[in-house]
Amino acid sequence: MLRVEQLHSGYGSIEILKGVSLEVHEGEVVSLIGANGAGKSTALMTLSGILPLKSGKIFFKDEEISRISPHKIVSLGICQVPEGRRIFPGLTVLENLELGGFSLRKNPIKNGLETVFEYFPVLSDRKNQPGGTLSGGEQQMLAIGRALMGKPKLLMMDEPSLGLAPIIVEKIFKMIKKMSEDGLTLLLVEQNARMALAIAHRAYILETGQVNLEGEAARLLNDPRVRSAYLGE
Ligand SMILES: Nc1ncnc2c1ncn2[C@@H]1O[C@H](COP(=O)(O)OP(=O)(O)OP(=O)(O)O)[C@@H](O)[C@H]1O
Ligand SMILES: [Mg+2]
Repeated sequence: MLRVEQLHSGYGSIEILKGVSLEVHEGEVVSLIGANGAGKSTALMTLSGILPLKSGKIFFKDEEISRISPHKIVSLGICQVPEGRRIFPGLTVLENLELGGFSLRKNPIKNGLETVFEYFPVLSDRKNQPGGTLSGGEQQMLAIGRALMGKPKLLMMDEPSLGLAPIIVEKIFKMIKKMSEDGLTLLLVEQNARMALAIAHRAYILETGQVNLEGEAARLLNDPRVRSAYLGE
């Protein structure tokens, strides 16, 4: 579904991604794992079209999307849940969600909301509350919900576990798993390698802008290099 070939990108003259290639097949959960500063967010920003690529190619469903606008990328069905959630604190939960469905033409808001509330019932209970007054976990759910409102075919999430208590992380990952079972294709960026490998079909390990290891998630979970560098064993 998504194919990335030799992607180079960065900020100004600083090159961060140095030839990253990866693939996400339809129906898969693929995790992109790496330490702080490895370039994970840079990769997602480039795939979303927010950061221009320097060279390389990106294909979505065999169509090249390397240099198209972020807006067009969203309209093709690639949505991102950004790092740090970036919800609108002064808008209510409902207003935040409605913004996520804004790019869709045909009155999609209502059944989009039903889907979001099915995954995250707490958002329905809190729908008239300002987004900024939600707990960290609820804000993450809202950020995911907002992306779901855009009816993605491929959902890219940047560190959904960041700063959350283990019990909340588990709850969110359970819902991510359910989204996958419901047919959504996912590219998941995580520092929490254990959770990311547990949920994924396949994974890529990024080190200083390059893919260092890749393969079946179950195999990587047992790889001694992964265990010592990313699982603290
Ligand atoms: N706007 C920017 N301008 C210049 N350099 C940047 C910018 N954003 C990120 N970088 C640099 O790019 C490198 C990769 O950052 P990136 O945010 O992609 O890492 P990451 O893997 O997502 O890390 P983390 O796990 O901490 O979120 C870092 O060295 C960072 O300092
Ligand atoms: Mg990041």
